[in-house]
Parts: sequence; structure tokens; C-alpha cells
Amino acid sequence: MSDIDIMRRVRTAARITAGRTIFWSLARSGDLLSRFLQPGPGDDAYLLYERMRARGPVHRSRTGAYVVTSHALCSQVLRDPRFRVRDLSGRPADFDPFSDEATGPVAESFLEQDPPDHTRLRRLVAPAFRPALVRDYRSRIETIAHDLLDAAARRGSFDLITDFAAPLPITVITELLGVPDVDTDRFARFGAVVGQSLGGVYSVRQAEELRVATQDLETLFVELEAHRREHPGDDVPSILGAARAQGRLSMDELVATCGLLLIAGFETTVNLIGNATVALAHRPDQWELLRGEPVRAVAAVEETLRWDPSVQATVRVAHEPVELAGTTLPAGGRVILMLAAANRDPAAYDDPGRFDITRTGGPDHLAFSSGIHYCLGAPLARLEGEVALQVLADRLPRLHVAGPLRRRPGSAIRGFASIPMTAPALAAR
Ligand code: HEM
Repeated sequence: MSDIDIMRRVRTAARITAGRTIFWSLARSGDLLSRFLQPGPGDDAYLLYERMRARGPVHRSRTGAYVVTSHALCSQVLRDPRFRVRDLSGRPADFDPFSDEATGPVAESFLEQDPPDHTRLRRLVAPAFRPALVRDYRSRIETIAHDLLDAAARRGSFDLITDFAAPLPITVITELLGVPDVDTDRFARFGAVVGQSLGGVYSVRQAEELRVATQDLETLFVELEAHRREHPGDDVPSILGAARAQGRLSMDELVATCGLLLIAGFETTVNLIGNATVALAHRPDQWELLRGEPVRAVAAVEETLRWDPSVQATVRVAHEPVELAGTTLPAGGRVILMLAAANRDPAAYDDPGRFDITRTGGPDHLAFSSGIHYCLGAPLARLEGEVALQVLADRLPRLHVAGPLRRRPGSAIRGFASIPMTAPALAAR
């Protein structure tokens, strides 16, 4: 190991340890945002959100950030151009005010850019996610879902996350990014490392793995673009490669955009499918409703996105003084928008803690955010969720969790790492 490597490791270790210690002590002194970022064993996120709500629609955390739990205010901030995703010095806003470096390829993607760069980059990739185009993926997603269940039935063991909810969106995004078969394992390995880091980097080993995986992914996307220049198709790298040839985006922007789509494909839809399945497994009456009328999968997906969303919170920075519900935020004030708390705001929804796939009324949930950063992949995520639940309802007469559930680490992205289920219950196609 070179001296530079050693120095880098020492710096990373110092930063991670300092960040964790500060959050830990703030959390123990009653700071609810720190508790969210560094939960204790057995903490219930939704009880924490109710404690945050009890402090008012906007409260100031000891980390210096302003925490917003109200649906109306979160929605207002997300659509207000005075709030941006970069801070006053142009760095991507972070949940963690102590972090001094961006993690992974998402940091430079258009999710982390403000207009005009955001507008330019989003416009380039948006055609690949048009609802009309996405609808054409339905039969392909159905085939992937059935194939995964067939493989689990043959094996005799079935973990809903590792054998179904994760490989389904990963296969779809791999195809969308036009990754050749020979590279899919490499791609899946790097994507998993980068995805795991989204909820935070908790060890030097993880930071090192992330650095290496990010570099390897960049190489892979550069290779992919070069391949697509020779053999153009209608996948995202071909669309972006053509735009690059016309000088409309740089190579770094192309790589960051592909990285964003990869992470979105790896770390969000998997949790939508997992969270929906656990919610339904705990409510057999709702599962029977879905099995009786599989078209209800659309509503089950929406209710899961409201009740237990994959992305629990996001961040914005005020670029001028703004008054929010009687609190004046200074220019540079960081706002943590608790999307999952907003989705259970009693001022917006009747009996918000009840999971009910027949629910009507209430505003649109904020699981896909709002305003200019509204999730570009929402039509695809909804379709994947709908098809996954329909195929499960078709092939699993009983939805039975057969072992202990294990949560994925991190707070901002919520989901399960493992949901063991009984394989023999799988019905034939
Ligand atoms: C259940 C699944 C998903 C959820 C809950 C979700 C959630 C979100 C949220 C909350 C944001 C905005 C964050 C913010 O405002 O700060 C976002 C942005 C984004 N999502 Fe998703 N997402 C999902 C699936 C996907 C998929 C499958 C893709 C594409 C493959 C995707 C692509 C994107 C992109 C490109 C953005 C950036 C949009 C922009 O900045 O203009 N997402 N997503």
C-alpha cells in the first residue's frame, strides 16, 4: 500500500468516526434528526417521525438543519425555486453536515444539479422513460418475474429480496442500460456496493469498496459508450452517446447519468416490492383482496409508496431567506424533508397509519418527490411494482414469511435485506 493510500485511509477513518460520534451524542441528547441518521437497535422510524411532528411542522435540529414533516410544507419546498439541491458554495447538499466528500457516482448526476444543468441533462434522458415507451416493457417484466419464481421453486428455497425483488429491477435496468451479457455480473457487483452506500458509509472498508466500485463502474460505462458508438441501439447509452457526439453533454455527465439510473434501478424498486410484500403478509385480508382482483396491484403499489416509501427523506438548501410556517430560514439553511412523515400527515390523510389498498382521497403521496426533481423513473417503478405483485398474487396462494426479516442498513433508504419465504408454496405458472 502506498503512502497516499495509507493517508487516504486514515482520513476516511477519522471522518467516519468523527461523524458517527457526533450523531451518536446528539441523538442521545434528544436530537431527533441525529436519531434518524443514526438509529439505535429496535428504533421504530415511524414513531420517531411522530415525535418530530409533535415538535411542529418545522423544527431546528442541533445539527443546524431544519426538519419538515408536514405534507403541505414538504410539497411547497420541493416546488419552490428558492430551494436548491446544491448549497451556497455549489456542493451537493447532504443529510450529514459533517461529511466532507461526495459518495459515489450519484453525487455528480442531475439529481444533484440545479437548473440550468439539471434541465439540460434531464431533457436528454427523459425520452427513454416516456410512459408510452415504458408500457412496452410489461411483457418482458412479466417473463423475468415468472422466470425468477420458477428458479426459486426448482431450488426449493425462496428469499423474496435476493431471489425476486432485487434481481427483477436489476435485470430491467441492465437491459435498459444495454449492458452486454458478459458484463452483467461485474455490473451487479459494483451496483450493489454503490447502492449500499446510499444510506451512509459506516466503515473504512465500505468507503474503500465504494471508491474502487465507483472507478470500475466509470470504466464500464466508458466502455459501454464506446461500444454503442460502433453499434448504436435504442438504449440509454446510445441516446446519451449521440448527444455527446453533438457536444450536448460531457463524458463525466454521461457516466454520472448512467450511474444514477443504475442506483435508482438497484436500490428503490427492490424496496417497493419488499415493503409491499411484508405489508400484505401482515394483513391477510388485503392480500385476499389483491388475489381476488389482481388489478388492485396498482392501488397496492400506491398505498405502499405512501405508507412505507423506499426513499424516506431528501434535502434542499434555501438560497435566500425564506419563511416557512412562522420560522425564518436563512440563506444557506439546510432543510430535511421527511417524505415518509409527510405521507402519514394526519392533516392530509384519514387514519394515515392504516395500510389500506382500497384507500381513496388525500393528496398525491411524496414517495417520488415533487417539483423539478420528481422521479423520472416513476412510470417504470410503478409498472415493475404492479407486475411483481400480480405475479406473486398469481403464484403464491399463501403469503407466508418463513423466517426472521432483516432490514438493510441506513435510514434514508428503507427496505429489507432478507425476507425468507416458503418455497413449496409456489404454484406452477
Ligand atoms: C419505488 C421506486 C422509486 C422511488 C421510491 C424513487 C424515488 C425518487 C425520489 C424521491 C426522487 C427525487 C429525490 C429528490 O427530490 O431529492 C427520485 C429521483 C429520480 N429517480 Fe427515482 N425512485 C424510484 C425508482 C426509480 C427508477 C426505477 C428509476 C430509473 C431507472 C429512477 C430514476 C430517477 C431519476 C433519474 C431521478 C432524478 C430526477 C431529477 O433529479 O430530475 N427512479 N426518485
